[in-house]
Amino acid sequence: MELDWSLGEYESTGEALLPVSEVVVAMSEPLAGKRVVDLGCGTGNAALLAAARGAVVTGVDPAARLVEVARERAAERGVQAEFLAGDAGAIPVEDGTADLLVSVFAVIFAPDADAAIAEMARVTAPDGVIRLTSWVPGGSMMTINNVAGRFMGEVFGGGPAPEPGAPKPLAWHDEAALREAFAKYGLMVEVERRSMRLTAKSAEEYLAKSARHPMAVSAAQALASRPDGAELQAELQGRLLAAVREINEDREAFQVSNDYAIVTARRG
Ligand SMILES: C[S@@+](CC[C@H](N)C(=O)[O-])C[C@H]1O[C@@H](n2cnc3c(N)ncnc32)[C@H](O)[C@@H]1O
Repeated sequence: MELDWSLGEYESTGEALLPVSEVVVAMSEPLAGKRVVDLGCGTGNAALLAAARGAVVTGVDPAARLVEVARERAAERGVQAEFLAGDAGAIPVEDGTADLLVSVFAVIFAPDADAAIAEMARVTAPDGVIRLTSWVPGGSMMTINNVAGRFMGEVFGGGPAPEPGAPKPLAWHDEAALREAFAKYGLMVEVERRSMRLTAKSAEEYLAKSARHPMAVSAAQALASRPDGAELQAELQGRLLAAVREINEDREAFQVSNDYAIVTARRG
C-alpha cells in the first residue's frame, strides 16, 4: 500500500530538507519566466523558491494536506504558484510545457519508476531539463527507512511475491541504472554527489523528531492494530536507536551526513 504523506507532520522534515531545494533551484538559474514543475512538491520547498525567482510554477503532489500547506505558504509569502493534486504516474501538466521539472526526494517514491520517467519526459519541453534528487544508501534517512521496513516485514510478512510484469524498482542514485532507465525516453543523464548534514543534541532527540514523519506515523498506526502493539513499537524504537547510534559521527551529540545524488536529465 502506498504511504499517505498527509499523515503526521511532514513539515519539520521539509524544513530540514530545504537546503537541498536551495541547491537544486540555484543550479537551475536563471529561472525568471521559465515554466517549472515541482513534482512531489510536499509543502512547496522548491516550488516557492523557484516562484520567488520569477518562474511560472506548478507544484504537484499526491498528498492533499501538503498541497494545501504549499498553497497557504505561497499566499503568506505573496508568491504566485499553482499547486495541484497529482502524482508521478499521471502528472497533471500538458505535454512539452516544462522548461524545468524538479523533484526533490519525491519521484523516487513513485511505485512505477518507468511510468514516472515516461511522464517526466512527456511534460518536459524538447530543450527542457529534469532535475531530481535521491538519497545514497548509508545516511540516516535510508537507514531509518530500511530498519523500519525490515521490521514491518518481519511483523506483517513481506507481502506476496511481485506478479510477473510488475513495475521494477529503480536505484535512483545509481548512475548506470539511471542511464538505462532514462535512455529509453531519449534522455541523457548526469549524476552529481552532494551531502547534507543532519544534527541533533542526541540520537534519542533525533529519533523523537522523526516520530511524526508520515512513515513513522503510518508504521505506528499499523503496529497499534496488533494486540502486542506497544511491545512491537518499543522493539522498533530500540532497533532504530541502535541503528542511528551506529552511524552517529559525533561523540558528544548527534550528526549524520546524508549523501545524495542530484540527477540531471535532458534530451541528447
Ligand atoms: C520526502 S518528501 C519531499 C517533499 C518536497 N519535495 C521537499 O523537498 O520537502 C516526498 C514527497 O513525495 C511525494 N510523493 C510520494 N509519492 C509520490 C508519487 N508517486 N508521485 C509524486 N510525488 C510523490 C510525497 O507526497 C511527498 O510530498
